[in-house]
Order: sequence, then C-alpha cells, then structure tokens
Amino acid sequence: MNREDFPMLDNNIVYFDNGATTLKPKCIIDEMNKYYLEHTSNIHRGDYNAALKTNELYDNVRNIIGEFVNADPNCCIYTSGTTMSINMVVFGYMRKHLKKGDEVLLNKAEHASNILPWIKLSEEIGIVIKYVPLNKDYSLSLDNIKKCVTKKTKVISLAHVTNVIGDVRDIKSIGKYCHDNNILFNVDGAQSVPHMKVDFKNSYIDFLSFSGHKMCGPTGVGVLVGRYELLEEMEPVFYGGGMNNYFEEDYSYELKSIPTRFEAGTPPIAEVIGLGEAIKYLENIGMDNIHKHEVKLKKYLLDKVKDISNVTIYNRTSDSGILALNVDGVFAQDLSVFLNKYNICVRAGNHCAKMLKDEMNIKNTVRVSMYFYNNFEDVDKIIEALKNNKEIFNVII
Ligand code: ALA
Repeated sequence: MNREDFPMLDNNIVYFDNGATTLKPKCIIDEMNKYYLEHTSNIHRGDYNAALKTNELYDNVRNIIGEFVNADPNCCIYTSGTTMSINMVVFGYMRKHLKKGDEVLLNKAEHASNILPWIKLSEEIGIVIKYVPLNKDYSLSLDNIKKCVTKKTKVISLAHVTNVIGDVRDIKSIGKYCHDNNILFNVDGAQSVPHMKVDFKNSYIDFLSFSGHKMCGPTGVGVLVGRYELLEEMEPVFYGGGMNNYFEEDYSYELKSIPTRFEAGTPPIAEVIGLGEAIKYLENIGMDNIHKHEVKLKKYLLDKVKDISNVTIYNRTSDSGILALNVDGVFAQDLSVFLNKYNICVRAGNHCAKMLKDEMNIKNTVRVSMYFYNNFEDVDKIIEALKNNKEIFNVII
C-alpha cells in the first residue's frame, strides 16, 4: 500500500525493520520543511504572523492525537518518545506515590525502557519488581497476571505489543482487571499505536506511551497520555521555560496547568507538526486495514518459510507483523549481514529485550517487522534469500 509515497523505497530495498523505525512519506517531510522554510518561530512566545501560524499547527496536533487514541487532548503530553514518556511516569508519578515493598508487575518480554526505569526506582525507594511468567508461546495471559497479584501490587506495566515476539496483549481485559482491583495500568504502545486502533479510555489505561518515528513520523517526538487525575498528581521531571507562571526570589513559583507543565523548554516543533501529519496519514489508510495487511503478509511468509528446513520461527502464533527467526547454527547478526547483500533490512540481536533470553533460551534472533508498505514481493525476496542460506559463509566472509 502507498509505496509511491516513500522516497526510501526508490532505493530498491526491502525494508523489514519497522519495529526499530519506519520510513517517512514525502508529504510528512514536506510539512516539516514548510515550518523551516515558511514560518520558523518558537511557540507560545511571538505575536507575529509566522509565530501565530506555528502556534495554531502545534496546538492542533494535540486534538489530532486525542482523537486518534480516544483521549482528552489536554492529557496528551509531547515528549521525545516512548522512553522519555515511561521515565516521566516512573520518576514523575510513581516515585511520589509508591513506597518500599510496593509491587510492580512486569514480564521478561519487555524492552529496556519498560524495565530499567523500574529497576532504578527500586534502587531508590525499594519497590519490588515481579516478573509474570510467559506462556509457552511467550504470550502473556491475564490468568498468569492474576496469579502474581498480591495485596501489595500497585502497578502493572506492559507493552501492548512486544517488540520481539509481537504478541498482542489483551489490554482491555487486563485494564479492566486493574481498574477493578485498584492497580495502576501503564501501557507501552510503541509497537501497537502505529499498527492498530488503540483506545485509551475504553481500555482502562492510566498511562500510555508511544513514539512518532515508529509511525511514519519524525524522530525526537512522542507522546505520554495520562488520566487527568493522575497527571494532576504527577511531578514534572524537567523545569524551565514555558512550563511556569512565575518564580520569585523567596523560592516561590507556580507551574502552568496540564499539559504545558510537562513541556519545559523549546519543544521539537517541526517534529510535533510531523507527528500530526503522520497520524492523519495513517488514519487515511485506516488502522484496521494496516493491521489486517500486516497479519496477511506474516501468514504468507509463514506459509512460504515452511519449505526451508533449517529456519526456526519463534512466534508463529502472534497476531502482528513481527517475526523472530534464526537459521540453524548461524549467528543472528551474520544472517542480517547476509540479508543485507540482498538489500533486505532487518534487525538482529536481543532487540533491547535483554531478559527474554531467560524465557526463550536463546539470546539473539533476526527480527522481520512489517508495515503497510511491505508487499508480497518483499516477502518473496526474503524467502528467496533464506533459501540460499547455505551460502551464508561464502557471502559474508
Ligand atoms: N525498541 C525498538 C526496537 O525494537 C528500538 O527496535
């Protein structure tokens, strides 16, 4: 779908590294360039025409985001990306509201940004992290979550879609369970918001994070969506220009209201505008169409790969466009170097999910992660390359 919109695809590449970052359509790059070429100005500071135009575009992106994920626009905070968003939740809200001995449920399929901040918080205030066991297919069930919950469980934090296994968690049921049991529900939407409809309000989510660059937008911008009452209680992690009403010699100060309070300093203005364009672009295609297309491509790949005896796929059953695989006896990075000879872009390694090895008994995989602009021909090309995998050592040495 829409392949002609992506200048990078003119380079004759097969781009299967969408979990890391996606390609950018020209129309979004053009919109960002317009800001630089036609109305460069800071936001909320100038009274001249260029500044007024920038204010309007910048502020309106909050409405676009709110509608996209079904949240109050004023509860959508611009951040630099998912990592910053989760750090704001952990160090802005949780540090203030959790205490020694409180339990946070994670699982070992999470990537670094949803584990390391919690480890750091544990070091600081003594929260206890518990890892919910995964099922045989590395998915996460509500039953397993329930078995880990105790009276001390205060937070469940998880990725909606994991970045290696690509399993789609049932966030609505888990959210409802959290809601009914007075547990905070923190959702990392980095791998889901770009690929399927995500409904903040109706999934009982307390905090939701996602990144612009994984959804056709620019790098350096992301979003934290929070429930209003919780954001009211959250401390800013950054202090400075734009987020205060006044500060005085006697140490007094007053912060602005939500969301401005959490956006100190000059924000990534072109990037916010680009993110708004990216959301409009995706909605035009339709989130359900995107998800269906990716699942169809994955099924096609699974069907074709059956004939290649030395390829292991670790996540046949997951319902997304992510595949984790290895060729028997071949180091994952060697395979990705080999695929590069065919202009096929994938990611190899542990994909920042460094604890997943405890569940899978392997450290590294090659990850094929799809998006709507991939097509059956792309899949045919990777299958062709994988069929030739006996040549791998002749090719890469
Ligand atoms: N979390 C990103 C990935 O999975 C960077 O590649």
